[in-house]
Amino acid sequence: MLSRFLLGGLAFAGATFAQSSSSYTDPDNGFVFQGYADPTHNVTYGFALPPASSTDYSGEFIGEIIAPVSAEWVGIALGGAMAGDLLLVAWANDGKVVYSPRYATGYVQPTVYSGPNITTLSETVVNSTHWKWVYRCQNCTTWSGGSISTSGSGAVAWAWSSAAVDDPSDASSDFLEHNDFGFFGQNWQSAQTSNYANYLAGKPGTPTSTTSTPPTSTTTTSTSSSSTPTVTGTPYDYIIVGAGPGGIIAADRLSEAGKKVLLLERGGPSTGETGGTYVAPWAAGTNLTKFDIPGLFESMFTDTDPWYWCKDITVFAGCLLGGGTSVNGALYWYPTDQDFSTANGWPASWTNHGPYTSKMTQRLPSTDHPSTDGDRYLEQLEPVVAQLLQDQGYSQITINDSPNSKDHVFGYSAFDFLNGKRGGPVATYLQTALKRSNVVYKDYTLVSNVVRNGSTITGVQTNDTSLGPNGIVPLTKNGRVILSAGSYGTARILFQSGIGPTDMISLVEGNTAAAKNLPPKADYINLPVGMNISDNPSINLVFTHPSIDAYDNWADVWADPRPADAQQYLKDQSGVFAGASPKVNFWRSYTGSDGQQRYMQGTSRPGAASVNTTYAYNASQIFTITSYLSWGITSRGRLGINAGLTGTPLVNPWLVDPVDKAVLVQALEDIVSNVSQVEGLTMITPDNTTTLQEYVDSYDPGTMDSNHWVGSAKIGSDPSSAVVDENTKVFNTDNLFVVDASIIPKLPTGNPHGMLMSAAEQAAAKILALAGGP
Ligand SMILES: Cc1cc2nc3c(=O)[nH]c(=O)nc-3n(C[C@H](O)[C@H](O)[C@H](O)COP(=O)(O)OP(=O)(O)OC[C@H]3O[C@@H](n4cnc5c(N)ncnc54)[C@H](O)[C@@H]3O)c2cc1C
Ligand SMILES: *[C@@H]1O[C@H](CO)[C@@H](O)[C@H](O)[C@H]1NC(C)=O
Ligand SMILES: *[C@@H]1O[C@H](CO)[C@@H](O)[C@H](O)[C@H]1NC(C)=O
Ligand SMILES: *[C@@H]1O[C@H](CO)[C@@H](O)[C@H](O)[C@H]1NC(C)=O
Ligand SMILES: *[C@@H]1O[C@H](CO)[C@@H](O)[C@H](O)[C@H]1NC(C)=O
Ligand SMILES: *[C@@H]1O[C@H](CO)[C@@H](O)[C@H](O)[C@H]1NC(C)=O
Ligand SMILES: *[C@@H]1O[C@H](CO)[C@@H](O)[C@H](O)[C@H]1NC(C)=O
Ligand SMILES: *[C@@H]1O[C@H](CO)[C@@H](O)[C@H](O)[C@H]1NC(C)=O
Ligand SMILES: *[C@@H]1O[C@H](CO)[C@@H](O)[C@H](O)[C@H]1NC(C)=O
Ligand SMILES: *[C@@H]1O[C@H](CO)[C@@H](O)[C@H](O)[C@H]1NC(C)=O
Ligand SMILES: *[C@@H]1O[C@H](CO)[C@@H](O)[C@H](O)[C@H]1NC(C)=O
Ligand SMILES: *[C@@H]1O[C@H](CO)[C@@H](O)[C@H](O)[C@H]1NC(C)=O
Ligand SMILES: *[C@@H]1O[C@H](CO)[C@@H](O)[C@H](O)[C@H]1NC(C)=O
Repeated sequence: MLSRFLLGGLAFAGATFAQSSSSYTDPDNGFVFQGYADPTHNVTYGFALPPASSTDYSGEFIGEIIAPVSAEWVGIALGGAMAGDLLLVAWANDGKVVYSPRYATGYVQPTVYSGPNITTLSETVVNSTHWKWVYRCQNCTTWSGGSISTSGSGAVAWAWSSAAVDDPSDASSDFLEHNDFGFFGQNWQSAQTSNYANYLAGKPGTPTSTTSTPPTSTTTTSTSSSSTPTVTGTPYDYIIVGAGPGGIIAADRLSEAGKKVLLLERGGPSTGETGGTYVAPWAAGTNLTKFDIPGLFESMFTDTDPWYWCKDITVFAGCLLGGGTSVNGALYWYPTDQDFSTANGWPASWTNHGPYTSKMTQRLPSTDHPSTDGDRYLEQLEPVVAQLLQDQGYSQITINDSPNSKDHVFGYSAFDFLNGKRGGPVATYLQTALKRSNVVYKDYTLVSNVVRNGSTITGVQTNDTSLGPNGIVPLTKNGRVILSAGSYGTARILFQSGIGPTDMISLVEGNTAAAKNLPPKADYINLPVGMNISDNPSINLVFTHPSIDAYDNWADVWADPRPADAQQYLKDQSGVFAGASPKVNFWRSYTGSDGQQRYMQGTSRPGAASVNTTYAYNASQIFTITSYLSWGITSRGRLGINAGLTGTPLVNPWLVDPVDKAVLVQALEDIVSNVSQVEGLTMITPDNTTTLQEYVDSYDPGTMDSNHWVGSAKIGSDPSSAVVDENTKVFNTDNLFVVDASIIPKLPTGNPHGMLMSAAEQAAAKILALAGGP
């Protein structure tokens, strides 16, 4: 729901790092480096700095990257972010190391950056097992928009790829998105060495540090504590792939009807109730994990070891039990009738969503006051935003009491938190499903494709050979497979099963491991998987007001929270930590110059992802209004995979249609039109040197993302424009279904997961009712 990109806009102030640099002596050259060895790819990143007193060598450092040859390219971001940072990228080619300083303004292909003067030193090695680049980097401690704190410490980000750059002989070559990335805390001060000049001369000098083993990391990744039974080639009536909201609800409703269900999830536990153990230092000794505590939501984006994001999808996607609902802002809107209208792309048989929405709200009611004591916390912005909106004719409502009222209304944000903790489908539907003896849940199990005999699916291919011969889990007679792996995950499984556009299946054919699982070419099914997808474009406006508590921009909630708030939460799950950052939401309807109606949603929260102003402002008083365009938007994009089979947007879906853009600019102008009437209210981003039109025109598309991807396997009546029919069955297959955000044809009016869960209730009912099944 918030506009951020993987490596973009991360705030590290005051953060502590799960992985930190330490001192080591390179056994080949004897130099003492301060650095970090990534244990997954065995790449070591080292740095040596001149002493702080040095004037001869100011602004420079000596670095090394030691990588196994499996690393086709490796990059580092010296300031810990991808955008606005000095990036160094290197790879081996023809016995030499090729390197390139780069810079990116967003989450896009970084371009060559001039300024740094980099020299490869003679200690560089390329042999049969490794490449090691030892380099001098002059004019490298400051760059446009950033610097390293040479007498302090900071975050360094690394990126790793198993796919070679486009032209390895060309230092300015383009390359695909990295396959993996991570962060470590770099102690720059400890990297200072009085031997700096000796190193430049190729002499190790007298080491001043004592450690001689390469650094190793400690990881905080949770381990499985699941004790589900092992099955060997056991057939199931329904195999459901992915335990996000779609998959969990399908598993619960199908097992409730007595079907034998296998729910497969590639990730591991999330909340404490599910065996999760990723607990903030201040909650040690409790089962209150990062995924339980609503107030830790903002820390999802600043974690130094964000293991819960899918590493093979370039936008945010949760790869753990609960999927997006374990990591999202949990804004939860009961769907409107328009959300399920034929105008919004649904088949007529879906428009009667009421009974399904009721089933959902009975299981999982919303709350707009999630603290267990019933009080609201950190709501200082409510009267400010209320006054701003009331001046424009808005009225206040309890939003989920009147789901269809979405024009000129505002109210307290509603969530699917329960008992002061993250609730969602994991705390409700999953718990009832797991109690049934006809349900098997298996985590850490990756499904690559379905196994097909022509139009019939016979099983799913997993990476766990204990589940069946070669890891293939079979179906019972007439059994069915349901894909619920999310908008990117489901699309990839379809491509790897020979279903989708030709260009996507060709990429699978080009991958040796995946190609062997494809069906014969004659059985490929051409469907518009990934076509015409949408996501809300969103723009942040940042304000200050003297009444606001910006909550230190959420920077310390994980490592160093306000003690009273932490204690209150631990005592009885009440207080600030029982809520996430959003506090007030509002909607307004517009009709564009094309006659098309569109809705604008506003979300207000203390703090801000970034501020850009030439004037001084008080950072303790900042808050953000994010304005999204939702129902009725006409812009579309495309998602798919790249040659590394990484899920990625292929064509960005935001503001492609100029009318969408004009409506969003109008909505922003309306929001700010009464700012001067609210005493003490100042807009600081954009500030008064920039018009809203200019602001939107120059907005980084990578930060317009709302993580609300829908439509990659659209429901519809025609396989030329849809992937699943009105029963959610994939066209031209006998027994393959999709139940997740992929089927949603067009965006709903609010953040989508409430509407998606109602859709999953309805899909489960339609699948059960469809003849020919188990
Ligand atoms: C950062 C963020 C914030 C958000 N905030 C909000 C919000 O506040 N309100 C809102 O309504 N929506 C929000 N959303 C969107 C919402 O979370 C998603 O729309 C929703 O989770 C989609 O559900 P899904 O079932 O389609 O897929 P997902 O939730 O993505 O679940 C897919 C599951 O499948 C698993 N999986 C994937 N591939 C495989 C495979 N090959 N084999 C086995 N398992 C696999 C994944 O690990 C995951 O558990 C947010 C999303 C993000 C990422
Ligand atoms: C990393 O090193 C360890 C220990 O030397 C080894 O077991 C592992 O296979 C290596 N991994 C890679 C990706 O090279
Ligand atoms: C140093 O690098 C910056 C860019 O980061 C560049 O603008 C500047 O010209 C460089 N200085 C020298 C002396 O090369
Ligand atoms: C880069 O640094 C080397 C070594 O200090 C120096 O010889 C060279 O002149 C520098 N180049 C530029 C363009 O500054
Ligand atoms: C290759 O170089 C690396 C890094 O210097 C070294 O650790 C490794 O032992 C070398 N391998 C061989 C086969 O010489
Ligand atoms: C945490 O959960 C485990 C497993 O469910 C349970 O045994 C333990 O008592 C719980 N601990 C606390 C502090 O609640
Ligand atoms: C708020 O701004 C609108 C213009 O968008 C204006 O018509 C209205 O009079 C203003 N309200 C107040 C109370 O000033
Ligand atoms: C299967 O893949 C998952 C997700 O990547 C991983 O956690 C698990 O260890 C893999 N299992 C096996 C047996 O390799
Ligand atoms: C595939 O299906 C056909 C009928 O459509 C059947 O004759 C054949 O035996 C099946 N093949 C396998 C391997 O099950
Ligand atoms: C900050 O705003 C100015 C003025 O609009 C703009 O030129 C600049 O690109 C912005 N910087 C960033 C990082 O967005
Ligand atoms: C900034 O805001 C905080 C919180 O309202 C206030 O305590 C502080 O005095 C303000 N600082 C300045 C310089 O106005
Ligand atoms: C722009 O904003 C600054 C800071 O709030 C203020 O000092 C200045 O007077 C404003 N300029 C105009 C033209 O409104
Ligand atoms: C995508 O949308 C465009 C514009 O509405 C339409 O022309 C095209 O046929 C659609 N493609 C698919 C595959 O649905």
